[in-house]
Amino acid sequence: MLHDIYTRPLKDLRISVTDRCNFRCTYCMPFDEYEWIDKKELLTFEEIARLADLFVQLGVDKIRLTGGEPLLRRDLEKLISKLSSLNGLEDLCLTTNGSLLAEKVSALKSAGLERINVSLDTLNSEKFARIRRRGDLAKVLEGLFAAKRCGLDPIKINVVVERGVNDDDIIDLVEFSRKNGFALRFIEYMDVGNSNNWTSEKLVAKKEILDIIDARYPLREVGRDKGSAPSLDYEFIDGRGEIGVIASVTEPFCTTCTRARLTADGKLVTCLFSATGYDLKALLRNGATDEEIIDTVSSIWRKRTDRYSDERLEAMNSGRGYRAKDHKKIEMITLGG
Ligand SMILES: C[S@@+](CC[C@H](N)C(=O)[O-])C[C@H]1O[C@@H](n2cnc3c(N)ncnc32)[C@H](O)[C@@H]1O
Ligand code: SF4
Repeated sequence: MLHDIYTRPLKDLRISVTDRCNFRCTYCMPFDEYEWIDKKELLTFEEIARLADLFVQLGVDKIRLTGGEPLLRRDLEKLISKLSSLNGLEDLCLTTNGSLLAEKVSALKSAGLERINVSLDTLNSEKFARIRRRGDLAKVLEGLFAAKRCGLDPIKINVVVERGVNDDDIIDLVEFSRKNGFALRFIEYMDVGNSNNWTSEKLVAKKEILDIIDARYPLREVGRDKGSAPSLDYEFIDGRGEIGVIASVTEPFCTTCTRARLTADGKLVTCLFSATGYDLKALLRNGATDEEIIDTVSSIWRKRTDRYSDERLEAMNSGRGYRAKDHKKIEMITLGG
């Protein structure tokens, strides 16, 4: 198995299939300027499947498709069908804003998708409009229930919690999920990208999220899936459902991070907070052999030293403090959340 400098194996690959999005979520892309990836620079499904196969040979057993909004990529089910038949891949999932899910979920399921994460930060339609700035809450809910009817399991709801914006929606979302059999993943608001104006005041820490829920619906810690998942999971003591919290800011999990990312234009990125990536597309399009690509990825992973969230916490706890703006990063919609 391939390990980095800190002996972390390469186990997960997040593939961004497009940087385009039909939403404009305030926490993700409040851009003044963003240069969209040119269509001809996007990896084709054949190129993605070839790289995915090589990553699986290197030890990856889980792939998540993301973006931008992955369901904007035409015929995505064709890619799912290619990936779901990869030998050695144990888990294939997708993160979506849900807007196009109702119309596409049946084709995705038939192509081999078994589980899904849908982002939903509030059940209040006016607040939804304020946070996501485009789209429609009713369509996302329609997508969630269509996924349930289709038999996708589990269906997880991703909630980014932002102070003063949706921290008062936590219990509503918990009750909705418990009632309908969805799992919830609360995500601490992170300083991804360069332009979401993140400050630590906007952060609602894991502890606070858990205290709010536990006071109403007592919880018991379950642990991390496979010991290395970003989410620390909890079950309700009454047995009615589960939640997870991704506490990248207050309880970083860099020491167990096994994730690589592939941008829609074929850059290999080794951390969510990286400033640069390595251009695998150039290798692909210049006729590199499988062995050459495997050697390149291996040598990048072996040298990997990323521990951005650990360093952020160290800075936040030190006298010098942490200013998100001082760190240039690849945008979330480019590298895939
Ligand atoms: C970048 S999105 C891409 C997939 C899809 N468009 C969606 O919204 O689910 C992936 C995940 O990142 C989360 N995300 C985006 N910006 C974030 C931020 N600043 N902090 C924490 N999570 C964030 C989104 O809520 C979503 O669950
Ligand atoms: S979080 Fe997802 S839906 Fe929202 S802007 Fe980012 S990519 Fe689009």
